[in-house]
Amino acid sequence: MKVLVIGSGGREHALVWKIAQSPKIDKIYCAPGNAGTAQLAENIEIKADDIQGLLKFAQEKKIDLTVVGPEGPLVLGIVNLFEKAGLKIFGPRAEAARIEGSKVFSKEFMIKNDIPTAQAGIFADAPAAINYINEVGAPIVVKADGLAAGKGVIVARTKPEAIAAVKLIMEQKEFGAAGNKVVIEECLVGEEASIIAFTDGESVIPLASSQDHKRIFDKDQGPNTGGMGAYSPAPIVTDRLMSEIDLNVLKPFVSGMRQEGIDYKGVIYAGIMVTKKGPMVLEFNARFGDPETQPIMMRMKSDIVPVFEAIIDGKLDDRLIEWDERAAVCVVLAAGGYPGKYEKGIPISGLDKIDQLENVTVFHAGTKFAGAQVVTNGGRVLGVTALGGSIKFAIDKAYQATNMIHFKGMHYRKDIGKQALKYIR
Ligand code: AMP
Ligand code: GLY
Repeated sequence: MKVLVIGSGGREHALVWKIAQSPKIDKIYCAPGNAGTAQLAENIEIKADDIQGLLKFAQEKKIDLTVVGPEGPLVLGIVNLFEKAGLKIFGPRAEAARIEGSKVFSKEFMIKNDIPTAQAGIFADAPAAINYINEVGAPIVVKADGLAAGKGVIVARTKPEAIAAVKLIMEQKEFGAAGNKVVIEECLVGEEASIIAFTDGESVIPLASSQDHKRIFDKDQGPNTGGMGAYSPAPIVTDRLMSEIDLNVLKPFVSGMRQEGIDYKGVIYAGIMVTKKGPMVLEFNARFGDPETQPIMMRMKSDIVPVFEAIIDGKLDDRLIEWDERAAVCVVLAAGGYPGKYEKGIPISGLDKIDQLENVTVFHAGTKFAGAQVVTNGGRVLGVTALGGSIKFAIDKAYQATNMIHFKGMHYRKDIGKQALKYIR
């Protein structure tokens, strides 16, 4: 089989790495990919959002299966386009990906289907939004309706902060048309977990649980990022909590989609806040998480390709999916300045030494080759991922490997996985 993976982050390297282990695969392409995917696949210089260019490429190469990493092409309708051309592709269609592409659609969908979520108001003009903030007070969360590269959610501690967020989104149009509407919601308190599940539109099967680390600094300080590290399993997600999420979130999600006339196939990612009142949904994404996919792929024992095929064919079956009992931890190494401005093209050293370590894989994100040298090419540069007999061992191993890698300005959190340790006796 020939497979095309779309995207260029750590998530896509992890998917390429997992797909490459399938005996069904002859050749993998990655568009546009990074220096990590280049070692397992042929990188193709087509941007993830160039869905017409990707279609042309897939037709020319007679690609048997396309796997979409990021949300952009899903929301643009890459799945609709490929399906119309008779090509197999893994991911939800545009109308289904609206669950991520529009926070207004997502909130209305949750309310309609009794999926537990923060109380919210939806506004199409700034004065009404500001009135609402003045009425309910702070802390409060302001969310731009559309895609905003992960920056469209502002958790405001004070009223003036929330009002400034509304002005930034709706008046200054910081995120363009994504800010035509806003969702303003109650600020939930608790611990977050990522529940990522496969669905073929009928059955829904959760993957191993995981937890992301969104803030840039240790102890969850500083601004939000794309994710500075992740681990799996997340001990906060007990079997009981998982059953509750299955019953109150995942199952109503799939049946709600069917009621909308939407056949939702692919991945559904529920960002959950475990509150005193139980699990509540912060957001839905229509794709795998990044960096959660890195530890999750390390723990997936079964071949992932038959799972993708079964989902596309509407025959998802939990016997297809098996997990490694061990824990996995991913530490993200970021460029100096990230999540603000950062330089690119900085040489990375030490990667060759990692090959000698067992149960460690360095997933590349913002990297590329400059001749034979791997250099930085983004804000999140690498995801050092380790498997261990316990979360503690996995943490130690991931940091042992991290210490062997260097590039100028490199920084990372020192407390990835620490939160999980409090649950372990
Ligand atoms: P989202 O893109 O909706 O997941 O939001 C990004 C991050 O903002 C989440 O991972 C949370 O840390 C935070 N967040 C979003 N909604 C809320 C909320 N209602 N209460 C508290 N924090 C939130
Ligand atoms: N790790 C957060 C996300 O993928 O949205």
